[in-house]
Amino acid sequence: MGESEASSSSVHPHQRHFTWRKSIPFIPFLYMGFSLFFSFLSCAVFLPSFAFSAAIFTHSVSPNFTASNFRFIDNAGTFLLSQNGTFKASISGTNIQPSSYYFSVTHVASNSIIWSANRNAAMSDSDELSLTVNGLSVANQAGKLLWSTPPLNYKVAAMQLLETGNLVLVDARNVTMWESFEYPTDTIVVGQRIPAGKSLQSAVSEADMSVGDYRLEVTDGDVVLQWKGMTYWKLSMDANAYKDSNGDVSFMAMNATGLYLLGSDGSTVVIQVVLSNNPSGVRIGKLGSDGRLTITSFTDSNWVQELKEPVDDCRIPFICGEIGVCTMGGACTCPPRFHNEMSGGCAPMDSSLSLPQACNESTNGSQFNSSVSYLGLGYDVDYFANDFTEPVRRGVNLLSCQDLCSQNCSCLGIFHGNSSGGSCYLLENNIGSIFFTPNSTNDSLGRLGYIKALVNSSGEDPIGENKNKKQSFPIVGLVLIPASGFFLLATIVVLAILWWRKSRLSKARAVKMGRLHSSSSAELEIFYIPGLPRRFNYEELAIATENWKTQIGSGGFGTVYKGTLSDKSVVAVKKISSSGVQGKKEFCTEIAIIGSIHHVNLVRLKGFCAQGGKRLLVLEYMNRGSLDRTLFGNGTPVLEWRERVEIALGTARGLAYLHGECEHKIIHCDVKPENILLHDDLQVKISDFGISKLLSPEQSILFTTLRGTRGYLAPEWLTSTAISDKIDVYSYGMVLLEIVRGRRNNSNGEIYFPLFALEMHEQRKYLDLADPRLEERVRSEEIEKLVRIALCCVHEEPALRPAMAGVVGMLEGGLALGEPRLESLNYLRSYGGRFTEMSTMEGSNGQNEFVLFPESLAYISSQQVSGPR
Ligand SMILES: *[C@@H]1O[C@H](CO)[C@@H](O)[C@H](O)[C@H]1NC(C)=O
Ligand SMILES: *[C@@H]1O[C@H](CO)[C@@H](O)[C@H](O)[C@H]1NC(C)=O
Ligand SMILES: *[C@@H]1O[C@H](CO)[C@@H](O)[C@H](O)[C@H]1NC(C)=O
Ligand SMILES: *[C@@H]1O[C@H](CO)[C@@H](O)[C@H](O)[C@H]1NC(C)=O
Ligand SMILES: *[C@@H]1O[C@H](CO)[C@@H](O)[C@H](O)[C@H]1NC(C)=O
Ligand SMILES: *[C@@H]1O[C@H](CO)[C@@H](O)[C@H](O)[C@H]1NC(C)=O
Repeated sequence: MGESEASSSSVHPHQRHFTWRKSIPFIPFLYMGFSLFFSFLSCAVFLPSFAFSAAIFTHSVSPNFTASNFRFIDNAGTFLLSQNGTFKASISGTNIQPSSYYFSVTHVASNSIIWSANRNAAMSDSDELSLTVNGLSVANQAGKLLWSTPPLNYKVAAMQLLETGNLVLVDARNVTMWESFEYPTDTIVVGQRIPAGKSLQSAVSEADMSVGDYRLEVTDGDVVLQWKGMTYWKLSMDANAYKDSNGDVSFMAMNATGLYLLGSDGSTVVIQVVLSNNPSGVRIGKLGSDGRLTITSFTDSNWVQELKEPVDDCRIPFICGEIGVCTMGGACTCPPRFHNEMSGGCAPMDSSLSLPQACNESTNGSQFNSSVSYLGLGYDVDYFANDFTEPVRRGVNLLSCQDLCSQNCSCLGIFHGNSSGGSCYLLENNIGSIFFTPNSTNDSLGRLGYIKALVNSSGEDPIGENKNKKQSFPIVGLVLIPASGFFLLATIVVLAILWWRKSRLSKARAVKMGRLHSSSSAELEIFYIPGLPRRFNYEELAIATENWKTQIGSGGFGTVYKGTLSDKSVVAVKKISSSGVQGKKEFCTEIAIIGSIHHVNLVRLKGFCAQGGKRLLVLEYMNRGSLDRTLFGNGTPVLEWRERVEIALGTARGLAYLHGECEHKIIHCDVKPENILLHDDLQVKISDFGISKLLSPEQSILFTTLRGTRGYLAPEWLTSTAISDKIDVYSYGMVLLEIVRGRRNNSNGEIYFPLFALEMHEQRKYLDLADPRLEERVRSEEIEKLVRIALCCVHEEPALRPAMAGVVGMLEGGLALGEPRLESLNYLRSYGGRFTEMSTMEGSNGQNEFVLFPESLAYISSQQVSGPR
């Protein structure tokens, strides 16, 4: 249904919205994601047609003045520009969360918000900002004040937006009474001073601008980054920082040549970080919601990131969630006796252990009643805070250190070092991520980490341990093997998890619709859930596939066979190769998650089998096979342009859904034509998503470096940058170019196609890019559309790539096409002739060995890199 509608782009979005709702069983899930998306579309596309929008002011506005997003809708909420138009003041929503509006100042060229007034109290599109002689205020329609300037001594004569981005209120004598520069949010710009004792505070997320967990604090001698009060970085440690004097710092400032900590006379430099000379441009320093400090400069349309700290992603305190282990390249795993929590982070595998809850009167009591156990984190790991805090005790042995922790409910874990007779570090109040430091120089300190866990007393056995309750679970469609108690346990875990998910979902919905106050005492109720994947016997599947007779694919962790179930439905059965498979319990947990993901453009998981060491997935069968056959195959009919657009759109929708704001954001990691499956009537479905979740932790270290296929791998895989959903966007862009051309991007003997596409885009010769087999059956503008989207997707800088939802919008026509940015595409030129993608591959003998291949990858076939594992 989604597919057939897509071709008729005139369908009203709300109509389409309705169809989606009606025909998809997993309504809440989908509804949330798509209503967000469509409400964004409707904001972006439909409201502007109301033609009563007011005109934009330049430099200055006088009282009495009011503004709302709605009143300035033709200009997307912008009501004031600085003299040369470098900055704008607007009431606008973030792209991601369009229902929340903020009164903010934005650097126009880069679309970076440098300040916002009501960051902790978002307004609606018709709530008003008013400027009166008494100052500025933001109130909602009920008259509730959301934000205002403090009382001023004189009457306001004007609000001015200066060329620096400073928003000021001046009196009749033109004296500044209030300025936004004195109330920094998460950003510093040239000309702004952050005094010692003040801080920048990160936003919660890109979508939610309210104050998050990270802060940058200017101290009297340094600049520190902190997470929940714990330091994880200092400016003075930075490789580019120079300490010039020992005086006290009075403020931090940035100018055309660098970032400075200056003394009270305003000229004595205490610490400086020299940046490239940028006399005419704009420079923006920002503490991101991810905890990174970045400084970026803009000259004309050039966008250069000059500083990104911490350099090592693994030093970001919460990068892998609670107790998650950050490994090389920013990949996350769990310590040995922990498993992935669905909420992110890690929890003990042993279900009789639980992590202590936040410290208060009642928990302190109960903590003393239950016994405490310490789970070791293994060798070669360390904690970010250890380098910035003194041990609470020196000269104590491990047991004494554990005792110190056991006595205090705010202590959640310890690190114990061997130096000076034993140093004891306590992890208090919050635990962030752990980082992996193979062969670290810290070995001299020999710090070993332990996480405190509470042993549940018998009275409060966790669900599933108490086998007497088994009759009360309506176990639907599951075959239990009586001899194996473990199967029962695994089943119960799956059911419990599904119940938990369902309750979370409905809670999220309740929150969305109204307000849910407290989650009432959670009584265990097990529902029959339609999404529960069916469990198969191995024998059943052997019969269905006629003893693995028809192989229809391989790669992606195993071999795929065609099968027919007893109800005559045709399925694809994937045998996961045994070596990398995790334990049954974890496998089932992940199956429950993958099985609950339903989208018309994602291959549906119909069932699974976990028997002995065998792991199989039963998947929807797609009769036209994968896109690579149809697109690159010889004997197959040529895909018409319209069909290509359909495939591009279906794939984009599937990925957008995986990346969407649903509970378990999934990064596919291996988007390529082989994983895009087709069915009659051009149904498009993505396969192999979520597979990364089915591997054991050790395997997933390997996996994260091996995942992806040469030619579709985003550059950041190979640097230390954290991996985000933007890696899928990159791969999608590469696939889109192949869809346009109908050939592999790096076909032998031809110019590297992405580079050719860039060059033809620069010369606007789009017709040269289309599949020659299409002859004259496609117009230049149609090609331009896909090529421009593809080039935007393969920007080297992940932040410059559109989100998948944005790609869908551009393909559908609801969003304006992006403009490829040459400065982030120039890397293609060096890739061109000599294809020097660096990658890693599996060592020949061991499972966990890495071999780095800096420039020699040209000799490795893609099969070796991505083939059957
Ligand atoms: C501005 O509004 C205030 C209160 O609403 C009113 O008293 C005042 O006369 C207005 N000033 C102008 C210049 O309209
Ligand atoms: C107000 O002061 C600024 C700088 O102090 C000056 O550039 C501007 O011309 C003054 N405006 C008026 C109306 O005096
Ligand atoms: C930037 O500030 C530093 C410290 O005050 C100063 O030494 C330097 O000359 C300034 N650079 C420019 C271009 O103004
Ligand atoms: C626990 O540790 C915190 C932080 O060191 C301290 O403030 C608190 O007093 C301690 N509580 C007890 C009961 O010792
Ligand atoms: C700590 O030091 C002791 C004695 O110096 C040594 O026996 C022990 O092996 C060391 N432990 C670690 C983990 O290095
Ligand atoms: C780490 O040390 C081990 C044993 O000393 C060695 O085999 C391995 O090659 C080292 N790894 C790195 C990355 O240096």
